[in-house]
Amino acid sequence: MSEQVVPVIWRGDCLEVLDQRRLPGEEVWHSYRDSVGVFEAIASMQVRGAPAIGISAAYGVVLAAFAARDEVDWRIAIERAIDELAESRPTAVNLFWALRRMQGCLEGIGSGSEACAVLEREAIRIHEEDAAANRRMGELGADVIQEGSDGPVEVLTHCNTGALATGGHGTALGVVRTLHERGALSMVHMDETRPWLQGSRLTAWECMREGIRCSLNVDSAAATLLASGRVRWVIVGADRIVANGDVANKIGTLNLAILARHFGAGVMVVAPASTLDRETPDGSGIVIEQRDGNELRRVGERDIAPAGVAAFNPVFDVTPAALIDVIVTEQGVVRNPARHTNPLASLV
Ligand code: MRU
Repeated sequence: MSEQVVPVIWRGDCLEVLDQRRLPGEEVWHSYRDSVGVFEAIASMQVRGAPAIGISAAYGVVLAAFAARDEVDWRIAIERAIDELAESRPTAVNLFWALRRMQGCLEGIGSGSEACAVLEREAIRIHEEDAAANRRMGELGADVIQEGSDGPVEVLTHCNTGALATGGHGTALGVVRTLHERGALSMVHMDETRPWLQGSRLTAWECMREGIRCSLNVDSAAATLLASGRVRWVIVGADRIVANGDVANKIGTLNLAILARHFGAGVMVVAPASTLDRETPDGSGIVIEQRDGNELRRVGERDIAPAGVAAFNPVFDVTPAALIDVIVTEQGVVRNPARHTNPLASLV
């Protein structure tokens, strides 16, 4: 069995980023020594997935601190980098959560070199905590799935929520991994996830490397798969879970939740506490990233639509809490979130 992949490696003076745009064909690593480079790596989707974005941004702040170490205005330079990194992508709340944690470390710090040491420790802590949270969520989520099954299960997942999207193991794919480790997984079905193909390029790659039984389908085959009755659970990650339990995740998640409700499958959302946004009351307040229409008109160098045709390309959607059966975090499990006045209250 191959070792689990990692999306980023902190080398003490630079951040190495695996360019996920080139997978599965090539494993290309880039090395960044400043926060502008890390900003570009996030904005251009070399590194993606909500927790991995937060982790990378935290290291970006460390690099900004290193560059400003001997400046009189070191604090202003670090805060400027934090503001810039916050503009890299709008939807995953883990980015803002990590930047706020880094910003909080600056309180009471008296020099640029002290800031470097404190910020580096904090970024490493954010990274390690995420890996541990994923392991815990894997156990909790797998327990819920095994409660109602009398043998290995088939599940359906969307996008990539694996080691590549996190500090290790994965969120939704972490539950799949844990089921696999327990001998309780008969198959993970993977939506290809147009237009970036995180399902076919990344999730399939992770699963194949580790011998996890997997099968790829076009996004629009999900209805047929769920209608067959083979798949009892749809398992997805999240970019933001707001106070009433509504969930922003990769475009197409809402379709799956509607289908799952129709065909009687469960919907499990798996995300660390860093994905919780208690300040936004409901899904209508979530900023949904819109990307260039060329992502739909072209595949690589090839036109797959007439040049200039109008295109609608939101890359996330919002699934209402009423369509979610279980939210799993490392702090615990919330069943039927829409039945609670404050569904996130028990997660502390
Ligand atoms: O656009 P991406 O690839 O960053 O979107 C990723 C997703 O939507 C994931 O499902 C989500 O970030 C959870 S990753 C553990």
